[in-house]
Amino acid sequence: MKKILAIIGARPQFIKHAPIELAMKDKAQLVTIHTGQHYDERMSQIFFDELKMTPPKYQLNVGSATHGVQTGKMMAEIDKILLDEKPDAVLVYGDTNSTLAGALCASKLHIPVIHIEAGLRSFNKKMPEELNRVLTDHVSNLLFAPTNHAVANLEDEGITENVYKSGDVMCDMALIAKERVKNQSSSPYILVTIHRPYNTDDKVRITEILTQLNALGTPVKFPMHPRTKNLLATFGISMEDFQNIEVLTPQSYFDTIELLANCSCLVTDSGGMQKEAYILEKQCVTIRSETEWVETLENGWNQLIFDDLSQLAPSIRKEPGQYTPNIYGDGTAAISIAQKIFTHF
Ligand code: UD1
Repeated sequence: MKKILAIIGARPQFIKHAPIELAMKDKAQLVTIHTGQHYDERMSQIFFDELKMTPPKYQLNVGSATHGVQTGKMMAEIDKILLDEKPDAVLVYGDTNSTLAGALCASKLHIPVIHIEAGLRSFNKKMPEELNRVLTDHVSNLLFAPTNHAVANLEDEGITENVYKSGDVMCDMALIAKERVKNQSSSPYILVTIHRPYNTDDKVRITEILTQLNALGTPVKFPMHPRTKNLLATFGISMEDFQNIEVLTPQSYFDTIELLANCSCLVTDSGGMQKEAYILEKQCVTIRSETEWVETLENGWNQLIFDDLSQLAPSIRKEPGQYTPNIYGDGTAAISIAQKIFTHF
């Protein structure tokens, strides 16, 4: 049995890891490291409990810091574990600092790197995630790209060997969750998640975003990422001044999908939620100047706004066109990824 060491650390990675863990059960020796990039109970443990995931063998507890310090602290610890565990391959997901730390440590030790969610590009190098995924792809030995577009992005950078179009593991989970959550006929609301530095770290910009959300005729539900909450406190912004916005604590996975399944529109800057909205056939407005998930833009299911935030209300009013199903797969990505890993090694 091959030993695969998976590295996770931030909220979306717990969701991506859950179906992979299931698909590898009894077929590989799966060892998991949790870097501790996300550590609040509602940003981490809640997902392990709800998705019934095995507790990680290693908890690095690195916590928050600047990118260099956070990534460096992870690497110092991961290095030691890799030397000790000697896995046959290291598995990393997505584009966070935990992804990069794992990929760099493994490749320097000549341990094959498997990247799930390879080939995504925003072409915006100011995003830390863009640097993380480009660098990770270039040191990876086995790359699972969710879409044709992602495969083409890799090809454009000269990465053509051991690249497989796999579908998307988050789609696997979303399709399961869609069947489980309740469809409620509550009064209409708009679901909002905002946590990207370019939207949260400037007082004028975050105030403008909140002002636009507050002016929407429809009530807003806003599960707030701790980074956004902390910054609002630093800026002295009180949510009492935005009565149309109901602030919620960070939600569990199934609660998020339920909120999404019952909303009239999603407004977000998250990567994963744009995709989840598409899978649930929900209209989305993304407060970013570009997206990696370009398929969602087709026929207006997702619209990008950035500089002119007054476009928020008119964008929400636009009806999307025809819907193309299964662009992120049919819910079997994790199974086919696991099979490919077993045949490859
Ligand atoms: C990270 C990822 C981002 C992903 C997001 C999902 C990188 C570069 N970014 O962004 O791609 O979309 O996770 O949520 O890896 N904080 C807490 N408690 C926590 C975690 C974070 O209070 O459990 C606060 C801290 O103030 C911290 C800030 O959030 O400094 C940012 O956390 P960090 O993990 O650095 O980046 P995210 O914004 O969460």
